[in-house]
Amino acid sequence: MSDKSWGGRFEADLDAAAADFSESVSFDKRLAVHDIAGSIAHARMLGDRGVLSVADVERIVTGLGELKDEIEAGRFAWDKHKEDVHMNVESALTSRIGEAGGRLHTGRSRNDQVATDMRMWTRSACDTTAARIDRLLCVLSERARQHIDLLMPGYTHLQRAQPVRLSHHLLAWCAMLERDRGRLMDARQRLNLSPLGSGALAATTFDIDRSQTATELGFDGITDNSLDAVADRDFLIEVVAALTNCAVHLSRISEELVLWSTQEFGFMQMSDQFTTGSSMMPQKKNPDMAELVRGKCGRVVGDLTTLIVLLKGLPLTYNRDMQEDKPPVFDAFDTVDACLNILTGSLASAIFHGERMRSALAEGFVDATELADYLVTKGVPFRSAHHVAGRLVAYALQHDKTLADLSLSELRAEHEAFDETIYHALDPETAVERRKVPGGPARAMVKQALDALQGRLRTRGLDIAAVAASFGVPQAGDAVTS
Ligand code: ARG
Repeated sequence: MSDKSWGGRFEADLDAAAADFSESVSFDKRLAVHDIAGSIAHARMLGDRGVLSVADVERIVTGLGELKDEIEAGRFAWDKHKEDVHMNVESALTSRIGEAGGRLHTGRSRNDQVATDMRMWTRSACDTTAARIDRLLCVLSERARQHIDLLMPGYTHLQRAQPVRLSHHLLAWCAMLERDRGRLMDARQRLNLSPLGSGALAATTFDIDRSQTATELGFDGITDNSLDAVADRDFLIEVVAALTNCAVHLSRISEELVLWSTQEFGFMQMSDQFTTGSSMMPQKKNPDMAELVRGKCGRVVGDLTTLIVLLKGLPLTYNRDMQEDKPPVFDAFDTVDACLNILTGSLASAIFHGERMRSALAEGFVDATELADYLVTKGVPFRSAHHVAGRLVAYALQHDKTLADLSLSELRAEHEAFDETIYHALDPETAVERRKVPGGPARAMVKQALDALQGRLRTRGLDIAAVAASFGVPQAGDAVTS
């Protein structure tokens, strides 16, 4: 506020540059609905305790309700000279209802107010992001179900390693994302305590009821220590760390989408809606959305770094530095939410090329482990079997053959335990189906994992088919592979 509204101690206005430098309303106005809900709960509680008159509470609650409508309709005139969201709302309230507005701040400080607002904003943002993760899980799980029979090479070191199912790979992404959701919801549960009543730092002399405001605002309880409550921002670090993990996962998924849609891999084609052309090269169809998701991860890592460095070394309790917590938190949520949305659309509409995955299995010796495992079943120790298989790979390479191309006598030249049944063992379908331990790629195991995942999604209230359809997942009858 530049109008000496800090009260009697001040004779001069805040320097104009200092006012610009220190205002936060340009970004913390995003807290407005929570700020108003917090104020309404606080006013009602003060009324119930006899600190405010019934008439004043009535005026405050009505006035705040009108302001909320104005803000939501985009009609509220934010004034950066009133520093932050709290002062904007309070001053608009006072202009509207007069003296009663000036009583609202009784027993409260902006320090416990902003801590309360931030927790409320963050918990609702966690819910939004968790819902977006769930939508991506719906789409991925439907795509996995459609493609349960497609085989592809699994990779280590980006070298073809062993045959797996595309669906198993898609469910691996789901496992990563479900952990992200879990971390977000863990943090959400821990943060859901009300700081309101902690005052500036040393609580208040008024006979307030902290539990009443906590309950009214949907908190599970109240914070323990007033000094900690106004100084604590580690709930934000936790949440943004969870978002960072998610962003890292989204970047890893995106990188695979970029790779798989190259001519070199050719495992998939992203739809026109999620690719762009080149201004110069007419043949190009670039996976820009996946690349951007991969790139935006950097912002989220930056947001986490900003928060951690912001808090490092701050003494108790509130310090103005902490105002800087909001932009990185908002940005981390906005970025991850946008990435989740774009990836959901990209994955819903992509076409998978089953025959390219299948032909990639014919090269690269992804069946070498089968050869070794086969010998083990014939009583050969695994280390010797591994050695024999390695020699056969070298032999096949020299003669420009695959392992399945080798004749029985060529195989037996390395080990006499080979017989005709080896050819069946080398078949990728056999190789995958033999991996029927829980968590493995055999069809029944993938089916089990898929059913379990979709069961969890349904428990969380999701209509999987409806979500998938809303993102354009091809329905039965549409071509889903080529
Ligand atoms: N805008 C401030 C923030 O976000 C609100 C709390 C200000 N408190 C204070 N004592 N200056 O941190």
